[in-house]
Amino acid sequence: MVSDAAAQGPRISLGGLDLLSTAVVVLDGDFRVRYVNPAAEALLETASRTLIGQPFLRLFPELEDLEPDVREALEVHWSYSAPSVGFPRSGRESLQLACLVTRTEAPDAPFIVELRPIEMMLRLAREERLLSEQQVHRELIRNLAHEIRNPLGGLRGSAQLLEAELAEPGLREYTQVIIKEADRLQVLLDRLLTPHRAPKTGLLNIHEVLERVGRVVEAEFGPRIEIQRDYDPSVPELHGDMEQLIQALLNVARNAAQAILGGPEGKGTILFRTRVLRQVMIARQRYRLALELQIVDSGPGVPEDLQERIFHPLVSGRDGGSGIGLALAQTFVQYHGGVIECESRPGHTVFGITLPLA
Ligand SMILES: Nc1ncnc2c1ncn2[C@@H]1O[C@H](COP(=O)(O)OP(=O)(O)OP(=O)(O)O)[C@@H](O)[C@H]1O
Ligand SMILES: [Mg+2]
Repeated sequence: MVSDAAAQGPRISLGGLDLLSTAVVVLDGDFRVRYVNPAAEALLETASRTLIGQPFLRLFPELEDLEPDVREALEVHWSYSAPSVGFPRSGRESLQLACLVTRTEAPDAPFIVELRPIEMMLRLAREERLLSEQQVHRELIRNLAHEIRNPLGGLRGSAQLLEAELAEPGLREYTQVIIKEADRLQVLLDRLLTPHRAPKTGLLNIHEVLERVGRVVEAEFGPRIEIQRDYDPSVPELHGDMEQLIQALLNVARNAAQAILGGPEGKGTILFRTRVLRQVMIARQRYRLALELQIVDSGPGVPEDLQERIFHPLVSGRDGGSGIGLALAQTFVQYHGGVIECESRPGHTVFGITLPLA
């Protein structure tokens, strides 16, 4: 029997589960709730004192009658998984969860349940789809940029030769247009092609990176942009490429400043926030520690028709914008094993970057 084997087993520190970002419920040998971590309380929107002592399976209509099956799966396979069960909520539709029950040898926690909102699983699937889409885009753009580069050099060189031959100086106005536009295109191509330099990684302090970004933004945009900081001092150093991270965050912060200055108020705030996350999934990988970095601005928000596409290269909603800034930021963040995402409404735009720390 489970309980016999459990008697000599290791003890689990239930307090340690308090820190997990995953919703965890611990059951006793009779499947009654023994302990609920804060993440599970938040997910189920129910206080632990209400849940403790309740028969766990009865919380979910789909599981209520399955006790013999669940018990058998746990006896034989040590785990039971229900990909989608509904947790009823009064006055609202029920919350769809994936539920994984694992049997342990710890006497104080014979069964541990992990609960994950299905939305999160859908998000993971979406992230994966986006990732492969981005790869295709990037390849396409890179090839195109390479194809444009050579003829562009030819055009520029010929315009220069032509200019030297021109008898009438007034005509140079036209060759100068060709040369200047070729140079502008060249800069664009260089930006499209840069991410492919070899990364130079080392240990770095993310707050130092943010301070550098802040100083550039302050110098570039002046006092109508107020930079605020909300740093978590416990963020450890991370392995990364300083220049790439500065570039990525600068692109995001610059956009924020440009949006604020272009908005109705013409001034506003950009907040840099850092936090340490524990036990997170990033791009299908689980990490013990991660950094959550948010750049929040009070500007008018990302136009709705652009929201799905702002990370695509060459997508811009700004006069004079080339639409490369965020595509580059995303590439650099992905080089660091992280993800970048955006949530925006007027007055509150959040660019969130999650980077693995360990
Ligand atoms: N914080 C923000 N608030 C509102 N809109 C934003 C914000 N950040 C990005 N955007 C929108 O997303 C678009 C794409 O941004 P991205 O940085 O990729 O290109 P860009 O700023 O237009 O050009 P550049 O290559 O010079 O950065 C912007 O043009 C803008 O419309
Ligand atoms: Mg930009």
